[in-house]
Amino acid sequence: MTPGKVKHAPAADGACLDCHQPHAAANPALLKKAGVALCYDCHDQQEVAKQAAHSPLGEASCTTCHNPHSAGFKALLKKNPADRNDGTKAARPSS
Ligand code: HEC
Ligand code: HEC
Ligand code: HEC
Repeated sequence: MTPGKVKHAPAADGACLDCHQPHAAANPALLKKAGVALCYDCHDQQEVAKQAAHSPLGEASCTTCHNPHSAGFKALLKKNPADRNDGTKAARPSS
């Protein structure tokens, strides 16, 4: 897991099994659910859509921008949102 000062509550609390299935799972990284469905187990889809940086969210995977465990930047972002004017673009890893 990537260390970082901004912690995701369930990971920091050791509630790994909220998201992972030990031994065997149908999804990569032994995840209980694939893609955005995992995040929407706990986060309200309507609330998530209200965040300006999420517009438009489309089919983008949450983990394109957020680390599920911990990160060096606020809101568990993988990249510094202050690097560019547009936090959304800055948060996207450059390909
Ligand atoms: C909120 C959901 C969530 C919780 C809680 C969580 N994980 Fe994860 N974990 C993920 C996701 C999503 C991935 C896949 C990351 C990716 O594909 O970018 C992952 C990937 C991993 C991986 C594969 C390597 C990596 O870092 O990508 C390991 C190992 C791992 N988690 C261990 C743990 C452990 C140990 C805990 C408890 C301390 C934990 N996870 C808690 C969501 C979670
Ligand atoms: C088991 C429940 C659970 C799951 C699953 C879950 N989260 Fe969370 N998440 C929380 C809790 C609890 C908090 C802290 C309270 C809050 O901000 O709602 C949180 C907070 C966050 C924050 C704000 C962190 C901050 O410090 O500002 C982000 C971003 C986030 N989650 C993204 C994700 C993503 C992306 C996924 C899917 C990979 C995910 N969450 C899956 C429970 C969960
Ligand atoms: C294109 C990058 C990107 C993607 C994809 C993305 N986010 Fe975010 N997210 C952000 C940014 C940027 C913020 C705002 C950080 C700030 O200004 O505090 C944020 C904030 C959040 C927060 C903090 C609460 C809030 O509304 O401010 C949560 C929770 C969250 N995202 C969950 C999710 C979930 C769940 C998904 C997938 C459905 C997702 N994000 C996809 C970039 C992204």
